[in-house]
Amino acid sequence: MVKTIVIFGSTTGNTEALAHSVAEGLKEGNIEPVVKNVTAAGVDELADYDLILLGSSTSSYGALQDDFVTFHNNLTGMHLKGKHAAVFGCGDQESYPDVFCAAVDILEEGLKQSSAKIVAESLKIHAGMGSVVDEPAKEAAHAWALDIAKSV
Ligand SMILES: Cc1cc2nc3c(=O)[nH]c(=O)nc-3n(C[C@H](O)[C@H](O)[C@H](O)COP(=O)(O)O)c2cc1C
Repeated sequence: MVKTIVIFGSTTGNTEALAHSVAEGLKEGNIEPVVKNVTAAGVDELADYDLILLGSSTSSYGALQDDFVTFHNNLTGMHLKGKHAAVFGCGDQESYPDVFCAAVDILEEGLKQSSAKIVAESLKIHAGMGSVVDEPAKEAAHAWALDIAKSV
């Protein structure tokens, strides 16, 4: 069993909903993940896992979701060589085309700096402000995670 953790940061629940779809996709691929809100997670526990999936929405014009800031600051000092990782998140492509899902790129860069191996292209889902992630988005998250489960 590939020990896996899914950590999400979500202000209005969209990335949280994606995290649960990601977990379902992993389960279909025979991985039973731990799923945590970043408010309850610390970077030290990443050492216990083989596969790390991080999900953050983007806020404040290209910034990480607020709850992810401290986690990300600590992430760049970690040594995650040998760990597999990938990133997902929600953003608003219409209101913020220049910085759509920028938090996803920030987290991916942090994982690379800590020497984790990125095993999938990041998943960026459009969910505009005030809207809720739709079924196709959830299906995309499910399929993304299933592909990862099959590849690790
Ligand atoms: C104040 C504010 C700033 C935002 N800035 C961005 C941004 O820079 N880029 C982006 O893609 N989305 C941006 N968004 C849109 C959110 O990321 C989007 O609504 C997302 O679905 C929220 O997901 P969550 O519920 O998981 O936090 C912003 C939303 C708010 C309220």
